[in-house]
Amino acid sequence: MKILIINIKELVGIDESNRAYVSGADMGKLQTIKNAFLFIDKGLILEYGSMEHLFIPEDWKKKGIKVIDASGKLVFPCFCDSHTHLVYAGSREIEYVDKIKGLSYEEIAKRGGGILNSAQRLHDASETELLGDALERLEEITWLGTGAVEIKSGYGLNVEDELKMLRVIRELKNFSPLTIKATFLGAHAIPLEYKGKQHEYVDIIINEMIPRVAAEELADYIDVFCDKGFFTVEDTERILMAGMKYGLKPKIHANELDYSGGIQVGVKYGALSVDHLEFTGDSEIKALLGSETMPTILPGAAFFLNMVHAPARKMIDAGLPVALASDFNPGSSPSGNMQLILSMGCIMYRMTPEEAIHATTINSAYAMGVNEELGSIAIGKKANVFISKPIPGIEFMPYAYGSNKVDAVILNGKLL
Ligand code: NIG
Ligand code: FE
Repeated sequence: MKILIINIKELVGIDESNRAYVSGADMGKLQTIKNAFLFIDKGLILEYGSMEHLFIPEDWKKKGIKVIDASGKLVFPCFCDSHTHLVYAGSREIEYVDKIKGLSYEEIAKRGGGILNSAQRLHDASETELLGDALERLEEITWLGTGAVEIKSGYGLNVEDELKMLRVIRELKNFSPLTIKATFLGAHAIPLEYKGKQHEYVDIIINEMIPRVAAEELADYIDVFCDKGFFTVEDTERILMAGMKYGLKPKIHANELDYSGGIQVGVKYGALSVDHLEFTGDSEIKALLGSETMPTILPGAAFFLNMVHAPARKMIDAGLPVALASDFNPGSSPSGNMQLILSMGCIMYRMTPEEAIHATTINSAYAMGVNEELGSIAIGKKANVFISKPIPGIEFMPYAYGSNKVDAVILNGKLL
């Protein structure tokens, strides 16, 4: 399908130089073209520019070009959501009420709620049920402007159920037009039967789960919840080393509940990203500077659990890049709405709209290893873009936080 979008009020997120990610002060400089066109063919972005330089062939219909008039509308690269747990069974609104009444995330987890509750439900669900529910969630986020999503296992917590989750994610890759990456997160929580002897569970992850996951080529990345009450730095090192032997690059949960050492261990093992980061101080920022690890903030979880906020402003001002992702999961962030994440980035973290747009597109693309094909408007990149409704300008995207500003979605060069 050849698509020519004309009269675009503003084409947003252009990057001629094809940077892998955008850091520090550059995050505030978003490249756009006003009154622009965008030409898509064979699933790719082939050309863009100012309408003044566009020559539309008279026989465009004969040439099979679909022309879309985007007068008054903006065109963006689709969001890349680099951190989700969107394969899950059932919701957890009862715990949500417990939280409102004052129980902490850790207290709920200690009572066998939280992740262990989702693990029990996942165990009881069939692959078909999990697939159906996850496809519905993917459909929903597609119409909110997401074009790529990372999905983690981690509600299995035993060999068979972890494999079951990852196989569902593999099926999603076949069924969905979204670009999907899979992450193995066997180290998401310690099953009740391993309480007090968690090294035995870590042994199972290393000796049984990782080799099976690798043999079936079910995962692109490996994750560990390295935090207070969950996995220690030592556990994390052992697991990451085992995964890396099979080519699984780390992307880890770090510093959500405490100064856990998670950020430092992530950097040490060349993690693609370290995620959450509520507890980030000067030494964590120092560790991240000069590394290739993307600091990723998950505003949905901080909002939903009423947590302290990661110091996004301080990180960007120190010269770091920052990515934002949804953390879509039933316990700490039951939404995959990246438009809302964009708003939260601005409102809760004092990021400018330009910074937040970089954080949800090119930087989050890097955080899930798809920056060469996605995350910006550049010639040769995959055509995953959305057309907004008629809106005044880019600031309106985070400003109007309650409504869906997406009018049309193009994935892999096809208008949905
Ligand atoms: O990223 N923090 C750890 N894991 C998830 C929560 C998962 C759950 O509560 O079900 C997170 O927030
Ligand atoms: Fe998470």
